[in-house]
Amino acid sequence: MSETVNIKYGDTSLDLPVITGTENEKAIDISKLRASTNGLVTIDVGYKNTGSTTSAITFLDGEKGILRYRGYPIEQLAKDADFLEVAYLLINGELPSQNDFDTFKSDISLHTLVHEDLKHFFTAYPLNAHPMGMLCSLICSLSAYYPDSLDPNRSDAEKNLTVVRLLAKMPTLISWIQKKSTGHPIVYPDNKLGYVANFLRMFFGQRTDEYFTDDVLVDAMDTLLILHGDHEQNCSTSTVRIVGSAHAPLYASIAAGISALWGPRHGGANQAVIEMLQAIHNDGGNIDKFIDRAKDKSDPFRLMGFGHRVYKNFDPRAKIIKVKADEVLDKLGIDDPLLEIAKKLEEIALKDEYFVKRNLYPNVDFYSGIIYKAMGFPTDMFTVLFALGRLPGWIAQHREMMEAGQPIGRPRQIYTGSNERDYVAINKR
Ligand code: ACO
Repeated sequence: MSETVNIKYGDTSLDLPVITGTENEKAIDISKLRASTNGLVTIDVGYKNTGSTTSAITFLDGEKGILRYRGYPIEQLAKDADFLEVAYLLINGELPSQNDFDTFKSDISLHTLVHEDLKHFFTAYPLNAHPMGMLCSLICSLSAYYPDSLDPNRSDAEKNLTVVRLLAKMPTLISWIQKKSTGHPIVYPDNKLGYVANFLRMFFGQRTDEYFTDDVLVDAMDTLLILHGDHEQNCSTSTVRIVGSAHAPLYASIAAGISALWGPRHGGANQAVIEMLQAIHNDGGNIDKFIDRAKDKSDPFRLMGFGHRVYKNFDPRAKIIKVKADEVLDKLGIDDPLLEIAKKLEEIALKDEYFVKRNLYPNVDFYSGIIYKAMGFPTDMFTVLFALGRLPGWIAQHREMMEAGQPIGRPRQIYTGSNERDYVAINKR
């Protein structure tokens, strides 16, 4: 028998259905609430209790520290899969056959070039422009070059082409952003290379020299991209879905996701973590002082890279990244004092009553910045790398939302402003 929750409101008694997910997660379906109660809505600022959709892409259990894409544990994907394979899985729902994977990869290789006119954008930006601002504009601008993408009812083949273009061009555009900041000429894609190796070559390589990719670094970068691939209905993904629900083009929806990701409470935390660790280091390494500041409610300082809306246990991604950070630093022979500070900070915070009581654990961003820094990425590029990893997740979520024919996202509100009043002329106020 299907479960229901009974609510009573005035004279109305209403049985609301309980829906159950494949992992036995339960939700009260309130879609008939307003109509049946003459206007009653729910309010849940920050959506701490509200599911915005059903979804078959990512499962996470924040209490147990579980994360799976399409059913596959993140630990297995991070160890054995390759980023484009995971991208295919997220977007299409199943792991590809060898044949399908070869076609997917070769389609992406065919579209790595970006229209040369887009280079003119860069003449308008100051040298110190934040890469996330540029990435957002560039991705949205792709819609100008592919006007067919504006039609939400275009064929499946045309929709796939937009997906391929996004996956193929984002690494190229990110490398252009980097070259803008260094003043060096752009390096064109080398389609013989794999996705990550090609990206690292365009980003770090020079036209004057051959660029040799290091397998340990390619593997670490690939793992980081996989770990960032999707994370169900977080702030940026919900943004992509809600913008897409208005039938804005996919390029614009992804650009909106990039904007949301930029914030230091979301993807921008990886940049903020390194800045925090650097500040602790510059301050003489007094970790206790910063722990005290994080606990002080009159101080806006928070321990960046700590805490998560849904993980109330270890973020499984942070565990994998911590091991990778050691591997990369060993390989590069780097002894980074910031890694030592991060480890001590984690050790102290995990024993501190304030953090224990609130279930605050290191999240995905706590160690990722250390790897990016060791690889030579500038700090303000870290969130851009997060966006590159999250791209397949955003695409998958957008596709799922469109295929489900989701209505336009439009929350209700409870108005708390003035009641009706008459306009007063300016000379009488
Ligand atoms: N440092 C100190 N205190 C914290 C921290 C932190 N990093 N995070 C949460 N808290 C405290 C809050 O002050 C609050 O305390 P209170 O109950 O005494 O008022 C309690 O823990 C709960 O915190 P909320 O802000 O209510 O939790 P919420 O789920 O809204 O926020 C968030 C989650 C935004 C991630 C928060 O933990 C945070 O700001 N962390 C630092 C930024 C960060 O690392 N963001 C990346 C998240 S991962 C990602 O998006 C990729």
